[in-house]
Amino acid sequence: MYTISIVLVIGLVFLAVVYIRDIKQKEHAILRNFPIIGHGRYFFEFIGVFLRQYWFSQDRDELPFNRAERSWVYKAAKGQDAMVGFGSTRDLRPVGTVLFVDTPFPVLGEDACEIRPIIIGPYCKHPYETHSLFNISAMSYGSISKNAVLALSHGAKMGGCWLNTGEGGVSPYHLEGGCDLVAQIGTAKYGFCDSNGKLSDEAIRGTALYPQIKMFELKLSQGAKPGKGGILPGIKVTPEVAAIRFIKAHQDSISPNRHPEISNVSELLDMIEHIRRLSGKPTGFKTVLGDADWLNELCQEILKRGIERAPDFITIDGAEGGTGAAPLSLIDYMGLPIAESLPALVDALVEYGLRDRIKIIASGKLITPAEVVWALCVGADFVASARGFAFSIGCIQALQCHTNRCPTGITTHEPHLMQGLDPANKAIRVANYVKGILYEAGVISHSCGVKEPRELTRKHARIMTERGVSISLSKLYPDKVFGSKK
Ligand SMILES: Cc1cc2nc3c(=O)[nH]c(=O)nc-3n(C[C@H](O)[C@H](O)[C@H](O)COP(=O)(O)O)c2cc1C
Repeated sequence: MYTISIVLVIGLVFLAVVYIRDIKQKEHAILRNFPIIGHGRYFFEFIGVFLRQYWFSQDRDELPFNRAERSWVYKAAKGQDAMVGFGSTRDLRPVGTVLFVDTPFPVLGEDACEIRPIIIGPYCKHPYETHSLFNISAMSYGSISKNAVLALSHGAKMGGCWLNTGEGGVSPYHLEGGCDLVAQIGTAKYGFCDSNGKLSDEAIRGTALYPQIKMFELKLSQGAKPGKGGILPGIKVTPEVAAIRFIKAHQDSISPNRHPEISNVSELLDMIEHIRRLSGKPTGFKTVLGDADWLNELCQEILKRGIERAPDFITIDGAEGGTGAAPLSLIDYMGLPIAESLPALVDALVEYGLRDRIKIIASGKLITPAEVVWALCVGADFVASARGFAFSIGCIQALQCHTNRCPTGITTHEPHLMQGLDPANKAIRVANYVKGILYEAGVISHSCGVKEPRELTRKHARIMTERGVSISLSKLYPDKVFGSKK
């Protein structure tokens, strides 16, 4: 009885202190007006972020990725049966809904199809021939952890796809798995600069010596933050990350918002040619499209110089792309979504007769087989995903990438969080995810009447209009590309 009274008195004193503090403070109107109970709002706002996806959201509700999409990736990654019962929860009526065109006489057989190889960079000393179709998009070591990079590099090797290093340089963990790598050169040239921050020819030559490095990608921009360079908060710049980037540890790592030496298409092509000559390997660039008009200028300049001087590939990232950290205004408002930019790029290359010469890699929330197939129908040669692969290694969309507190060990360097991610186990999931995508992309292709996904054209996809009926992609983009992709 005596103890209970003591506890009660302490409790009342505590509440009185909180009450007085709440009504005296001037920062939060809620707490001044509703002392003590007002704290409940902040608590529920905080835990709501974590509970919403489990308790309240419908299968198709959430953003950036809804539960239906994530569940598909989780199941594929675990090698589980991705069958569903009763019927689709996908509403087919909204404008923009994509539907594929089945044939009465599908291609016999249900297994994942053989993907024929593609050669990228035919004029290089070391062209890259690959069977891959779905690949791992750039996520730098720094933005993601050592264990995450290890899982991806081993998984890519097992799954037969390439891994893009992202703009943080090539780390030993990228190399360890033995997969094909695309070395990305960002605007800060992390891992590729000399002591003055300029592009180092030595570093390019040295990196190109690794047989695993198959291509070089010059990053102009990424979908989540066009016009802003990479941002790695100081809390994630560990001494090892800093050493690989050639920067100081524990300080924010901010890249310039463009390559200082590239201010027009001519300088862009000069730089691509320079890297290609030094490395002997296919070289292209990654960008987000805003105004598609500059593609005309690019293509005209390429034709002037000769097609051997063309970029070997262009990675086109949609405005819906993800990031480790970006300002909200850029993430929400900047650039064209992939549904607009991909057809624009394909059409421009077709118009200038460059479609076969320059390979197209598409990214931007293309994480399920149907989304991958859509991109191929529109005209992409390859699809790449970052967050799809993050899901495959356990991402739960906690949206904490910039805080170094990722609960799944993917975007954190905190040892106690990173240790939860077992690279060997997750590598198998990466490989399963690739296989799951290829398998179902094959199933869709067969249903459309073609043998492999790259045989799909715009005729094979339709899109819902505001009139409540769908039209063929070949009618939506009729002028240049219909039937001309392959
Ligand atoms: C954690 C994280 C880090 C990223 N780092 C890079 C990077 O270093 N370079 C880059 O070009 N893109 C980077 N991206 C963007 C992705 O490569 C990709 O273009 C974009 O997320 C679209 O693909 P997705 O929708 O499948 O994630 C990053 C994305 C994420 C989620």
